[in-house]
Order: sequence, then structure tokens, then C-alpha cells
Amino acid sequence: MTIAWSEAWSVGNDLIDADHRHLLTLINIFEKVLSTDRPLTDLRAAVDALFDYTQGHFAREEHIMLGLQYAKYDHHKHAHGELIEQLKQATQPIRDLGDVMSPSTADLPREIRDSLSGLLRHWILDHILKEDMQLKPLLAKRPGNFAP
Ligand SMILES: [Fe+2]
Ligand SMILES: [Fe+2]
Repeated sequence: MTIAWSEAWSVGNDLIDADHRHLLTLINIFEKVLSTDRPLTDLRAAVDALFDYTQGHFAREEHIMLGLQYAKYDHHKHAHGELIEQLKQATQPIRDLGDVMSPSTADLPREIRDSLSGLLRHWILDHILKEDMQLKPLLAKRPGNFAP
């Protein structure tokens, strides 16, 4: 099942919203690879792309938070660090399969596949709705393309 972008997830900033849309696209790609029998390298590539983009997104979002003089900046930045750690832990079984000859997504134990599928969408959507959304009132006072 793919996640389609919802306007309800918009924080009212073009850059952050575009980043969030792209994160959802990357998670959709990850889930698609996970649910089909594909070489594990494809799944690793999907995870790596998600890691890289997530780190870039957090840095861009933190820069905007500084520009807004957001009072909960430290708390939010800390939450980003925890999310990276959670992503690392959740995807560790994928890296652990490196010793199997020509591993495929089908070599991942079913319970791990089941838990990974759906986990990442909650991982990012919960953060967008609980933390990023708190920036909305501050961002509403700035132009949509605000990027300090
Ligand atoms: Fe955030
Ligand atoms: Fe975000």
C-alpha cells in the first residue's frame, strides 16, 4: 500500500513540505521493494537513499527552525537524532543478511518483513504530525518560501 500525500500534513512551508513529500516517496519505494522478491541490494539501496535524504531533511528543517527562533529547537533536534537511531535499529536486520549468498528480500524472516512494512510510515508521519506541525503557527507568519 502506498502512502499518498495529504494536505493535512502540510506545515505551510514549501521546502519542508517538498522534503516530506519526497520522504514519503522514498518510504513507498522501500515498502514496494520489501513486498516483492528482489535482490537485497535493492532494499539496501532504498534504505541508504532514505538515510541520506532524512539526514539532509533534518538539517534543512533545523536551519529553518533556527531562522524562526523556535523555542523548542533543542527538543526537536534531539527528536531528529532519535529518529535516525530508530531507523538504524529497524533496518539493522537488512544489513545483517550480508553474509548470505545472493540474499533476497525473501530471506528476511517474515516477522521482520511484517514489522518493517508500515513501521517507517509511522516513524515519519508521527513525527510530522506531533513535532513538525508545531512549527505551523510560526511558519504562517512567514512567506511560504521562507528559507533563512
Ligand atoms: Fe522534524
Ligand atoms: Fe520534518
